[in-house]
Amino acid sequence: MNKKPVAILISGRGSNMSALIEATRDRDYPVEIVGVISNRADAKGLGIAAAAGIETKVIAPKDHPGKEALDAALDEALRAMGAEIVCLAGYMRLLTPGFVEKWAGRIINIHPSLLPLFKGLETHRRAIEAGMRVHGCTVHFVTAEMDDGPIIAQAVVPVLPADGEDDLTRRVLAVEHQLYPLALKLVAEGKARMTGGRTVFSGSFNGSGSLVAPIAGEEAFDIESLARMTP
Ligand code: GRF
Repeated sequence: MNKKPVAILISGRGSNMSALIEATRDRDYPVEIVGVISNRADAKGLGIAAAAGIETKVIAPKDHPGKEALDAALDEALRAMGAEIVCLAGYMRLLTPGFVEKWAGRIINIHPSLLPLFKGLETHRRAIEAGMRVHGCTVHFVTAEMDDGPIIAQAVVPVLPADGEDDLTRRVLAVEHQLYPLALKLVAEGKARMTGGRTVFSGSFNGSGSLVAPIAGEEAFDIESLARMTP
């Protein structure tokens, strides 16, 4: 099988990185992880990647005179690894427009909200404060604007009345780990492409099922159970 070489950029824990590495254990998954790069030497994910036998590299701001130089080093390292797609997985730096331009359509990110809502940080707290009844995560192509590129895939979870920030963080993170491998597969297979500022899909997709929240008691979160409850 012809596997797409993919590199992952992280800054910390690396749980999404781990989910992507895990997905590649399936021999039919169309991706090989060729390297993991962090801007921080203390990123926990680096150890996890190394233990999985993946090449790791630290490209830190303190070793480069500016943003352009840092991103030039990043570009060089990605090319040396043979990466054709780049996944941002909790990479906490804004990439320079020049870098993003070079990798246009080949760099994707996961963000813990239903974009275009809640760009930036503290998305779960802001979703609770806004009184959202659903929340989720988004995988999108990266453009020069933060958390702004064409959307590839989204996953939705309920926000329950008793939820605190930690509950919601946990619930969203669990679906992030499912969504990111699915979205990367679409991109690696060429089934989701960035064209003219939009995501264009090829292939057939199933759109059944819906999420309604909240529904009182033990009812499942779906539109059929809501219909049964409505007089
Ligand atoms: C995730 O919530 C991701 O959506 C966001 O940063 C967090 C990274 O977590 N971009 P991890 O390092 O993947 O565990």
